[in-house]
Amino acid sequence: MVGLILAAGMSTRMKSKYPKVIHPLCGKPMILWVLEAVLGVASRVCVIVGHQAEMVKQVLPSNVNVAYQKEQLGTAHAVMSAKDAIDPEDDVLILYGDMPLVRKETLQRIIEAHHSDDYDVTIVSVDMIDPTGYGRIVKDVTGKFVKIVEELDASEEEKKIKEVNTGVYVFRGKKLLEVLPKVNCKNQKKEYYLTDAVGLLERVNVYKAESYEDFSGINNRIHLAEVERVQRKRILEKFMLEGVTIVDPLTTYIDADVKIGRDTVIYPMSFIEGQTIIGEDCVIGPMTRIVNCVIESQVSVTRSECVGAHIMSNVSVGPFSRLREGTVLHRNVKIGNFVEVKNSKIGANTKAQHLTYLGDSQIGENVNVGAGTITCNFDGKKKNQTVIEDEVFIGSNTALVAPVRVKKGSFVAAGSTITQDVPEWSLAIARARQENKLGWVLRKKQKEEG
Ligand code: UD1
Ligand code: CA
Repeated sequence: MVGLILAAGMSTRMKSKYPKVIHPLCGKPMILWVLEAVLGVASRVCVIVGHQAEMVKQVLPSNVNVAYQKEQLGTAHAVMSAKDAIDPEDDVLILYGDMPLVRKETLQRIIEAHHSDDYDVTIVSVDMIDPTGYGRIVKDVTGKFVKIVEELDASEEEKKIKEVNTGVYVFRGKKLLEVLPKVNCKNQKKEYYLTDAVGLLERVNVYKAESYEDFSGINNRIHLAEVERVQRKRILEKFMLEGVTIVDPLTTYIDADVKIGRDTVIYPMSFIEGQTIIGEDCVIGPMTRIVNCVIESQVSVTRSECVGAHIMSNVSVGPFSRLREGTVLHRNVKIGNFVEVKNSKIGANTKAQHLTYLGDSQIGENVNVGAGTITCNFDGKKKNQTVIEDEVFIGSNTALVAPVRVKKGSFVAAGSTITQDVPEWSLAIARARQENKLGWVLRKKQKEEG
């Protein structure tokens, strides 16, 4: 089986500077959803590009064949542009790049129907309550297929037909190559219609699908949102059937490529995006966004934003934490409220529970980072590193002016501004010494009164 995906059209109704088929659904460009389904049933695939071809090509895997349709003169013309990809001895599956809900199982059933007899072509139809805008399937009184007529070319009688063309076809390669050159453009749009190629064939099989869902096409951003909602529901249902608890599917958004282990619970209003991998027995959310993170098992992340972080087992993050690119949290780390971590490795059992910024730092095991600790990593020109070795205690409200190293087992007094390295097992105090003036308040009062 050869698959052809048509993606050369203009897509004016999207009102976009980007080609329609690269708009993402659940984090994945529309055309890749279609491609994935087609690759499930076809050994070779060719994508037909034209309008903004380079942008479409960029999202395609480099091993996918591409054919160029220079001018968009209609769907038959598009197929003609890829005629080198058609093998006369093989079947050709043709569909449009803007129907991302199509599944390989659905395509498989269509192909089986095509093979059930000696057909030249199998087309897929569906009954629509409102068929406006679609090509109608015209049949004779005996129910035999006659032709597909496009909305603009349909008579009043034909417009009443509820059975429409979905835009998925399986042709015998040889037959398709025979009729394609015979298609003309004598219609309202002056386009070469693939639907007319069907009308020129003898043995046409009309496969009527039970539901339109898989064939929903996207023409504007209202369709985009509707189709994405269906796609999202499918993703969430897949996770739930695999053992992930999703407390409220209506407010949970998980991208196509995410992986989540069993018995992990996702609380409402959470977004899990990109190439994120989450292990077993984690608790994510509520109100959490995770992008491109690796999260191991028994981790909890609450009301937080994590991008590009690696979080190992038994870690807890949040509420209100922000983990940025390059963060690595080892086992049993605790990152608490209003803590930001960027490009930093934090060793096992270390805690930074409150109001802290750790940037470009390397922190050892069993470290306690007190509330309000700040790594001053930026000197106005470049970023500098802070190293805190194992077993260190950083008192609250400490400023660590990088580059600086706090060596093993040392203790930094609260309120210190550390500008020099601290030796092992030592106390560093870097603040003005406190002075107590005994009875000062009483003397002040006496003065005021007397
Ligand atoms: C098409 C079908 C119609 C069917 C409907 C289902 C034809 C003539 N009509 O109509 O029977 O009910 O889909 O959604 O096929 N394209 C190209 N090059 C071109 C023209 C189109 O690559 O020169 C691509 C478009 O990018 C699009 C697809 O083919 O993805 C369909 O073209 P479009 O013009 O949208 O056809 P419809 O009017 O929707
Ligand atoms: Ca269309």
